[in-house]
Amino acid sequence: MTTTTTARQVDPAEHAYAGELAFLAAYDGGPRPPGWRLTPRAVVTFITGSDGRELELAKEDRRDGLPNKLVVPAKFVGERALVERCVVTLAGERGLLLVGEPGTAKSMLSELLSAAVCGSSELVVQGTAGTTEDQLRYGWNYALLLAHGPSSEALVPSPILSAMRTGAVARVEEITRCLPEVQDALVSLLSDRRIAVPELAGTDGATVHAAPGFTLIATANLRDRGVSEMSAALKRRFNFETVGPIGDLAAETALVGERARAALERVKAPFAVDDAVLEALVTAFRDLREGRSVEGWDVERPSTVMSTAEAVAVATSLGLAQAYFPGDRDVLSLLPGHLLGVVRKDDPADGAKLLGYWDGAVRRRAEDGARLWRRLWELRDVLGG
Ligand SMILES: Nc1ncnc2c1ncn2[C@@H]1O[C@H](COP(=O)(O)OP(=O)(O)OP(=O)(O)O)[C@@H](O)[C@H]1O
Ligand SMILES: [Mg+2]
Repeated sequence: MTTTTTARQVDPAEHAYAGELAFLAAYDGGPRPPGWRLTPRAVVTFITGSDGRELELAKEDRRDGLPNKLVVPAKFVGERALVERCVVTLAGERGLLLVGEPGTAKSMLSELLSAAVCGSSELVVQGTAGTTEDQLRYGWNYALLLAHGPSSEALVPSPILSAMRTGAVARVEEITRCLPEVQDALVSLLSDRRIAVPELAGTDGATVHAAPGFTLIATANLRDRGVSEMSAALKRRFNFETVGPIGDLAAETALVGERARAALERVKAPFAVDDAVLEALVTAFRDLREGRSVEGWDVERPSTVMSTAEAVAVATSLGLAQAYFPGDRDVLSLLPGHLLGVVRKDDPADGAKLLGYWDGAVRRRAEDGARLWRRLWELRDVLGG
């Protein structure tokens, strides 16, 4: 017996934000690049939000099923200028490569951009060491191929080929994990804007041409084999944008709280972690990430990246512990153990660096009389020093 369920753990952006996307399409009726669902400005608003402003539809644009007014929340926390540059790149039908440390929302940004531009974020190839050229171009349905020979019906398009046919945005995740010779399959595709299918020579299907609007967003992680190792030819076909960590403590704390709350909502558990605990968590992450505390004291950096995504994961764990084991312990007492888990991910010896952080910044804050930090200082034993 098969069971079907309609609930999903993760909804693609075009579904999760379908209402906002429809609203923005009606709100900004300006000219759009070929194949685009929204104007470039509306794409930027979708991603960076309307700054708390309520956008109002003009009378003639109002429709059933759309609210008349909407505040668009920010989804990506970062420079608006960066998002504008990404949008301009795509409007010019150039490839966009988002590079950065792990957990800086490169994948999220690529998903939001593709959902807003063409209404689908699902034409995606995940780059791995085992990715083959077929996965970037096309493969075959072997049963059909053997039965009837090569035909358009037997051709299995890659997500990129599908995007070319429909003028959509295709995504390649972790492009630098693919072997260089596999990556290079993208060079001809991005310059000629067509894929030849020699097996179908002499038929209509011999060449697939990219429809207007087709372009590619790739992401690359700076901790993987370098982007510098991409061939010069391929690099030249992409505009590079570097996505950095969130600049501001308050903004990062707000985001971490919001994401953790949303994660708990999905499992129908209440989120009751104090803002002060969240701030301490994010402060510790930032101090260790930057090698300098908020106060300007030196901090020894662990080799792992203390990413916002990891901070969200820790905040979610704290929230879950509090929801499922209420009253067992105060949630702050779980923080040092979680931090230790993150810090030691790349190098187990880095536990000593967290201990150093405790003996430095945490102790000084405790001595300055901050209650929460005093409590954290008392928990030093958890770190095994
Ligand atoms: N600047 C940011 N704005 C909004 N959310 C962020 C930001 N930075 C991190 N996040 C959070 O981190 C999560 C992880 O992001 P994502 O997986 O897109 O990162 P990534 O850069 O692709 O990482 P990786 O290199 O490991 O693939 C996001 O879903 C979001 O919750
Ligand atoms: Mg990613």
